[in-house]
Order: sequence, then structure tokens, then C-alpha cells
Amino acid sequence: IRIAVVGGGSNDEHAVSRASAASVVRAIRELNHTAVPLSIGEDGSWQDEHGTVLPAYRAVETLTGCDIAFPVLHGVGGEDGAIAGLLELCGVPYAGSPVRAGALGMDKHATKLIAESLGIATAKARVARPGIDAAVMGLQPPFVVKPAAGGSSNGVFVVADPNGVAQAVSRARVFGDTVLIEEYVAGREVDIAVFRDRHGVLRFGAALEIGVTPGSVFGAAEKYDGSAKFTVPAPISDADETAIRHAAVLMYEGLGCAGVARFDFFLTDRGPVLNEVNTAPGMTERSQVPLMYAATGLDYAGFIAELLHAVGH
Ligand code: DAL
Ligand code: MG
Repeated sequence: IRIAVVGGGSNDEHAVSRASAASVVRAIRELNHTAVPLSIGEDGSWQDEHGTVLPAYRAVETLTGCDIAFPVLHGVGGEDGAIAGLLELCGVPYAGSPVRAGALGMDKHATKLIAESLGIATAKARVARPGIDAAVMGLQPPFVVKPAAGGSSNGVFVVADPNGVAQAVSRARVFGDTVLIEEYVAGREVDIAVFRDRHGVLRFGAALEIGVTPGSVFGAAEKYDGSAKFTVPAPISDADETAIRHAAVLMYEGLGCAGVARFDFFLTDRGPVLNEVNTAPGMTERSQVPLMYAATGLDYAGFIAELLHAVGH
């Protein structure tokens, strides 16, 4: 079968997304399928495997000439439902979440509203508004200031001093117009992944714990400088694992996800607190989600094969 793999994207996660897409392409070729790589440049242009710029209609022709698409577009203009919408309208089946799940999952404020409605704890947060400070909004320091539609921790700042919030908000705004001010949650960072397989069964990866220096966050630098310490399976109690899985399933269903999604939690004394949702999570061989499934005995190519089977191939 011919599979269009769409990577890159016109946002600050462009390079990560290209790396994820390159890994997926390698796996598809290992599986003896035909991979047709397509990229979106940082300037928004469509490009073929050789970096040749394609007019949009040619990109659409390429997509519709494939049996299915495998989008690996992190961030705004892809993960947020944009690529799902294009593929839906072109009639191309795809491995991944539909428009609604992508749009809600990309918006950290919307994610919180859904989570709260499902009884899942999240950090207390407000959308930053000019001239209104965090204390007035009823938030307690320390704060985490972040773009509402960010990824890879770009533009995330931990702020202890309420007087530093305004500056952090303007720095976060470089990454997106809507900025959230959250209360910092002290807890272990534990993530879980889930996808619905071809039989309709939800398949979990092993929980993964991220080693973070206390008082710090798993930030953009730690994500990609190789210093992050992943422990998988995470050394957590059965009760905590059950609670995390339960919350992840509620979110997967509540958002209407398809394909694989990763749910990031803080594990606190009061149980798991949802941090955020990734409907197009990092997919390099060393990214969290593939490591989580590898720990259950599903190697990288086998995992990609399962995601393809789930779309009927
Ligand atoms: N946004 C990055 C790619 C992740 O969630 O893995
Ligand atoms: Mg994310």
C-alpha cells in the first residue's frame, strides 16, 4: 500500500516533526509498504521528499494518490486538526485523531474544561488577560506560564515571583496569542499512551516517568538535549497506574481521539493531575510513545504496523 507521511509544519516544532516523520517513513519501508514523504516547510510551503516546493494542488494530488495518510505534524497547523480536516475533505483515510480531538487537545484551556467535566484533576489555570495579574485571578504562586497551543515545552516558564508573571506572559505570547497562567503542580511526571487497535481494543503503552530535577520542569531544553531520563515502565503503584489509565481512557474517548495519543500527568499525593494531551506525539525511535510500546514487546515497526492496521491496512 502507498502511505503518505506528512511531517514538518509551519511552527516552532518543525524540526521535531520532521524527525518523527523520518522515523515513520523508515518503518513503513521496513514493512515493505510504499512511503510517500510530504513536508510542510517552516514557510508553509508543501515539499516533496527532495525538498522541491509543490503547489498545494499537487500536494493534494499526492495525498489522494495514496491509500492512506500518516500525519506526523506536531503543533498548530497540523496536530490541531488542520491536517485531519484536509484529509477528511479529500477522502483520504488517515492514522490519527480527527479534527475535533486535535483541536481540543491542542488547546490546553479547552483540554482542561473537558477534563474537569469528566472529573479529572488538572492544574488550576486562567487565560492571561492584559492588566489583570495572577493574584487577582485567584491563583497561588509558583506559576507556570505557557502558550495555550504550544508543544515541546516551547515558551513555558516557571515563575515564582508574582511580579515576574507579566514578563513571562509576553515571552510566552511569542509562541501563540493565547497564554495560560497555571498553578505549579508538584509531582512526578508520568505519561501514558493509548491507541485503539483494529479490533476496537484500547492498547496501552507502559507508563513512562520523566526524571526531572525537583522544582524544575521537563522543558524544551531537556526534551532534546539528551539529558531527559526516561524510566519505562515507570516505578509507580498499581493503584496509580490504574488511575492514570482510567483518566487517559476518559480523555481519549471524551476528545474523540483515534490513532495514538499521549497523556501527560503529574503524579501527586492526591493522585494523577492531567498536564496535557498530545494527539500527534513525538514518534522518533527514542521518543516516549515508541519507548512505551517497546516496553510492552511491540518494537517500532510493529507499533507502526498496528497503527496502520487500525485504519484498515
Ligand atoms: N509535542 C511533542 C512532539 C510531543 O508531545 O512529543
Ligand atoms: Mg504537548
